[in-house]
This record gives sequence, C-alpha cells and structure tokens, in this order.
Amino acid sequence: MMWRPLLTFLLLDSVCTQKGSSKELKGHVSVVIVGGTGDLAKKYLWQSFFQLYADQILKSLACPSEGSEERCALLKEQFFKLAQYQQLNTTEDYENLARDIRQRPEDEGLAEAGRLFYLAVPASTYADVAEKISRSCRPGQGQWLRVVLEKPFGHDLDSAEQLATLLKKSLHEDEMFRIDHYLGKQVVSQILPFRKDNKNFLDPIWNKHHIERMEIVLKETLDVKGRAQFYDQYGVIRDVLQNHLTEVLLLLTMGVPADMSNSDEIVNKKLQVFSSLKDIDRTSAVIGQYQAYNSEVQEELNRTKEDISNTPTFAGVVVHVRNTQFDGVPIFLTSGKMLDEQVAYARILFKNEVFSVRNSSSLRCSPKQIVFLLRHGNLLHSAILVSKNLFKPTVPDDSWKEVTGERDTALFGLPLSGYHIYMPTFQREAHEVVVSQIFHGRKDSIIRVETMLASWAFWTPLLDSLAQQVPRTYPGGTDTENLLDFQLHGRKITFTNEAVILSPRAFVGGSATAENFQVMRGKYRNADMVSAWPEELIDRLAADLQAAAEEAVEGGGLFHLALSGGSSPLALFQRLAVHHYSFPWQHTHIWMVDERCVPLSEPGSNFHALHEDLLQHVRLPYFNIHPMPVHLNRRLCVEEDGGPLLYENDISRLVNGSSFHFVLLGVGYDGHTASLFQSTQLDSHAHRLVVLTESPVKPHQRMSLTLAAINQAQRVGVLVTGKSKHEMIIQLSRIKDDPQKWPITGVRPTGGKLVWYIDYDALLG
Ligand code: BG6
Repeated sequence: MMWRPLLTFLLLDSVCTQKGSSKELKGHVSVVIVGGTGDLAKKYLWQSFFQLYADQILKSLACPSEGSEERCALLKEQFFKLAQYQQLNTTEDYENLARDIRQRPEDEGLAEAGRLFYLAVPASTYADVAEKISRSCRPGQGQWLRVVLEKPFGHDLDSAEQLATLLKKSLHEDEMFRIDHYLGKQVVSQILPFRKDNKNFLDPIWNKHHIERMEIVLKETLDVKGRAQFYDQYGVIRDVLQNHLTEVLLLLTMGVPADMSNSDEIVNKKLQVFSSLKDIDRTSAVIGQYQAYNSEVQEELNRTKEDISNTPTFAGVVVHVRNTQFDGVPIFLTSGKMLDEQVAYARILFKNEVFSVRNSSSLRCSPKQIVFLLRHGNLLHSAILVSKNLFKPTVPDDSWKEVTGERDTALFGLPLSGYHIYMPTFQREAHEVVVSQIFHGRKDSIIRVETMLASWAFWTPLLDSLAQQVPRTYPGGTDTENLLDFQLHGRKITFTNEAVILSPRAFVGGSATAENFQVMRGKYRNADMVSAWPEELIDRLAADLQAAAEEAVEGGGLFHLALSGGSSPLALFQRLAVHHYSFPWQHTHIWMVDERCVPLSEPGSNFHALHEDLLQHVRLPYFNIHPMPVHLNRRLCVEEDGGPLLYENDISRLVNGSSFHFVLLGVGYDGHTASLFQSTQLDSHAHRLVVLTESPVKPHQRMSLTLAAINQAQRVGVLVTGKSKHEMIIQLSRIKDDPQKWPITGVRPTGGKLVWYIDYDALLG
C-alpha cells in the first residue's frame, strides 16, 4: 500500500514538562506527521504545530495575532526549514526515518527528549503504522514515545475492540494519545471547571427537578465533498455523535471529579454515566440525508446512479440518563451537514415556574438557561452564557474575561443583554490546544480505551437498528425550513412534520426546494393515493387514522375500526402504540377484517399479532375489542357453529348501519384482499357481512368480512408496501374491475372514500 507522503519536522531545544513530575526535561523532540499532506494536516495540523513552535520560541507569545508580521514571517521560514518530507511505505522507510530522527539531534549536539507521531492517515492503517513505529522508531531509554490517533476508532463495538487489541500489541496504553479534538475546544474544557467553580449555585439545580432538557448540537453548513470515501462508511452518528457530542454529554452529566487532573477519577466518573444511560433504539432517533448527497458521493466514488446510499448526514437522538439526578430529563444530541448555520453548543434549559402577572416578557419569565457555545454562530466568539435570571457565575481565571452583549442579538429567546457572558481571552483552535497538550505530555483531551469502548457499546445497537432505515431527504441550507424538526413523545422522538420526503430515486434532477418534499398524492385506479417511503407512509396512515377517529368520536362518540392481518399493518400497529398517546382509544372499537382459523393465542392468528403489537400497549376497554369467533365449541371454523353469523350480529348491533368508520385492507400478490380469494364465490355473499372462506395457502380456512361489509364503510384504506408488491401494483393499475379474478377491484365503497397507501418500494420497484 502506498502511504501518504510523510512529513517529519524537528523542534529543537524544546522544553517538555513530563506529566506526573515537576522536573522539566530539556531536549529535542521529533514530530512526525504520518499523512502530512492529507486533509486533516492541511486544515489543522500544520497550523497547530506552527503555533506550538511559535509558542516554544516566543515563550507563549502567539503568532500572528500578537507577534509582528515580520517576526512571524521569519518564524515561518525557520519552521519550514525544520520540515522534511519522506515517503513512508516499507519497514526500511521507517528504519531510515528512525536513523534520521536519531541523527538530527546528534548533529546538533542535543539530547533527545521524545518522539511524537501524529497519525493523520485512515484508521484502517493505524495498526500497521503503529506496528512499524514500534518496531523501528522506538526512542531510547528514558525518552518518551507518543502516538497520536484521531477518531474513528472503529466502526462499531466489535471493530473498535479489534482495533484496540491490535494497537495494544504495538503500543502501551500510555503511549497512545487517542484524541477527541472537541475536548480541546476552550469552552468544552471549561465545562467541568465551570461546574466546580459554581458549585454553590449549581448543586441545588443541576438535576431532574430543575432541568427541563439539555441540547447538545453541532450544526454545519458544509457538505461532505472531498471526504465521501470516509463519510459514506460512517455517517453523522459515527462521525460526531458517538464521540464529540457524547463527550460533551459526559461532561455535563458526570459527577464533578474532586481532582480535575486525576484521569483515573475522570474515567471512572464517565463510566458511571455510561452505565446509567438508557439503551437507545430506532425510536430514539430521527435521521436525514441532504438531497445532493447521493450525487456527490456517486461522483466522487465513481458509483452508478442506481447505487443509492442511505448514510445519514443528519441525526437527532434523545438520550436519558437513568439515575436519581437526571432520570426523565431528555438530552437531545443533534448534528447535520448542509444545515442553515455553522454552530455548536450545549444548552441546559431550566424549568421556569414564575408567572409574572405584570409583565410576562420580563427577565424573570424568560428562559433560564446556560449555554456553552462551543463554536460560535451568531456570536463572534465561543463563550459561556448564563441567563441573568439564574445566577452570576465566577469568571474562571485570567484566561477568561467577562464581556457585555455588544450587539443587538438574541440567543435562544433572550437578548444578549440578558446573559452574563464569558469568553476566553485568546481564542485558540482546538487542534492547537490538543497538540500543545500532547507535546507537554498532558492527557486532558485524550480518550481512554475504556470510555471509547463504552461509547461504542452504547451507540452500536442504535446504529444496527438504523442500518436499513431510509433517512428523510432534506434540501439543505435554509430551504430545509422545518423539515428536520423533531419532537419528543414520552422517551421517543419523531419528526414533527408529517411531510413525506422524496428521495433522489424518485426525483432525479428535481429542484431542491421545500415544496418538492411534500407528500406525494395522486390517483390510483381512480381513487386517491398517498405515496411515500415506508416509514413516512406509515406515519401518514397513522395520522389519517387518528384524524378519522377524532372526527368519528366528535360526531357520534365512538370510532369503529376494522383491521386486517398480515405483515403490512404491523408497522402501523407499532406506530399507533408508541406515537399516538392522544388517540381516542377509550372510544374506539376494534374489529377484525379477517382471521385465520387457528386459536387466537397462536402466533399465526391475526388477532394475536394485533394484540402483541398494539392492543397490549394501549388502554382500550376490553369490551371494545372484537376478535372473530373462529374457535367455538372447541373447534375451528365449523359452519354449524355459526361463527360468521355471531360476528355479523355483533356488527349489526354495535356499528351504526353496519358501516365501519375505517376499514384497513391489504392486497396479496394474487390480488386477494381481506380473506377473499379468486376461489371465493363473491356473488353468494351479497347479503352477508361475514363468511368462511378457503385460502390457497395455509392455514386454508379463514373468516372474512365480505365486499358488502367493506363497501359500506365510510373510509377504506388499502396499504401496500414492499418491492415484492411492485409487479402486482403495475398489473392492477392496468386492469378493469374484475372482482372474481382480482377481489381487491371489488372494493368500491358505496358512500365512503377509498384511499390507497402505497410505499415507493411497491410503487416504483
Ligand atoms: C470532525 C468530523 O471530527 O468534526 C467533521 O469528522 C466535523 O465531519 C468536525 O465537521 C466538526 O468539528 P469542528 O471543530 O469544526 O466543530
């Protein structure tokens, strides 16, 4: 494999304070950036090492902001003279490098203090590079080796464990500097000291009784151009939530360590948080992808147009810490590319119970909040903001200053003048801070293997559960409007906007405005059709059902709903169970469209599935539930037992005019609906509501509503999902009504409305 050109440069006469000892080691430090011409190095590392060099030379006088331009130019010249490029490929290359590293200080008559290797290469090469460094480039006795690794440390828990095991073969844990540059952000590194310095104010309120919610947000306007290879394998959750945002979450929720410099104590406190985190799954997250993403990735990676990626570029996740301090406080972690602004913050919003009779817009009634502005958006600097209705915090130390809201800007519902604001005296890039810390042997921004693995253990189940999920497409920038807003229902979240997003599959070349992203509505077989990606389609159907229920209850006090079996409606049942708390279940009667002749307690029974996925989760009165009587007199569906008649009588007795408010149907590959098949003598049921039928597939015996019963309904929804139904959907679109051959074509509500709910997989194939 061809390594990126390697950069080595040498810092002469550096001063290095070794951690754990007060003695200062004077000596020469070699710095090697493996991958010195890559993206990371170009963007941050050169500048950071230059800053370090300038700091060393000028003894903490930063350049260029404080040094003169001429001085800086001179420094740069000297700095570049120290730099050398070398190709690193083979073991010999590393041996040559080791020789050079030894040689340089010897020539200058200097002692070596240590060697710092910064791996700015893809993580897939870490183990190999580490092995070569260990084999060929270890320094002598008493000199240190520091190998800096940037995330990603793996792709999931298994791969992270594998990488950790491999690296351990070459490097000791204290030689590995796994960095998270977010920990080098000035405001992030101030979170724990801030919590400690303001303990008196915070202790009484830093808990579930006072905190309404926390938001940890990284919004970016950038796309992924130039990084598609990496990004498409990782996506937003692995790229920033699993690491940067999780670290911020830990700093906000961990116990404040008594000794801030004790890394063992810090790690233990972080692990305690991980052990209290509630497991997350699909319902804890919403994901999106900006519209141009696929064409960018296809172009950069030479992929075909058919090669569609579902990698999310946006995610919103709700996390809960289940301990006595935070139980019930939702913590939102959100990040996305191609959003409307470039900003990162952690916001702690406190409950405000004050009701001001005189002036509801007074500060007393305004949001009570602390904002750690990690990367500035509207403000020009990163800062810590504490709303004045909370308390006046202590200014950290000389490196921080208090400022007054200079501009007439509002932030999170409060004018700047409503905050106490603190900023670092000198703004420093995170990588600069991290590089300097590592150079000085400090582990402040280092991720220990235990917490890294604990984080993967937390995120991996969610990542697995989202692997097949199609993200919501968003136009990007301000056009996205509120498409990505999400909301909390209990401990789950969903997008607030029911709009269905069309993917590039459906709209190649369409213009990217919010209008293009609405629900696709159309006509199918002369009836209304709603179409969308599966998840959004289910959301829409559930919302339509709820609307029908509310309308019926308002009109007559009751809602009669008849539900089909099969696999298509299962997602709907789950959706209704989890997201529709306000559904008028107390006033809803559930009927069955059809049933298999098996005991209701068996998994093959339609009622059993309905019970598992919906009924047991909602509060519906028992007497409102109407399973079909397929099991009478200890036998299944025997004509003489009169099951269909019993059900028919119940319908006539309880349902006004035997007209259900909503009947939900599916369609089989052969065009059957309910349990009405090609072989079913439909004509003979003209005056019946319920009949026994024979299915061509097992279990053969069925009980079913008739077309007459279905067509009396006020609304009929036909749900069709999945690619395997595509052929059938195409065929059905072409044929005339022929119920005996295609029972579904006999569904023509006499006074009611028919709506087809067809997902894109079924519609577009
Ligand atoms: C990096 C991610 O770790 O963090 C990038 O790989 C992201 O995708 C960046 O843009 C954000 O960092 P910052 O410092 O610019 O907020």
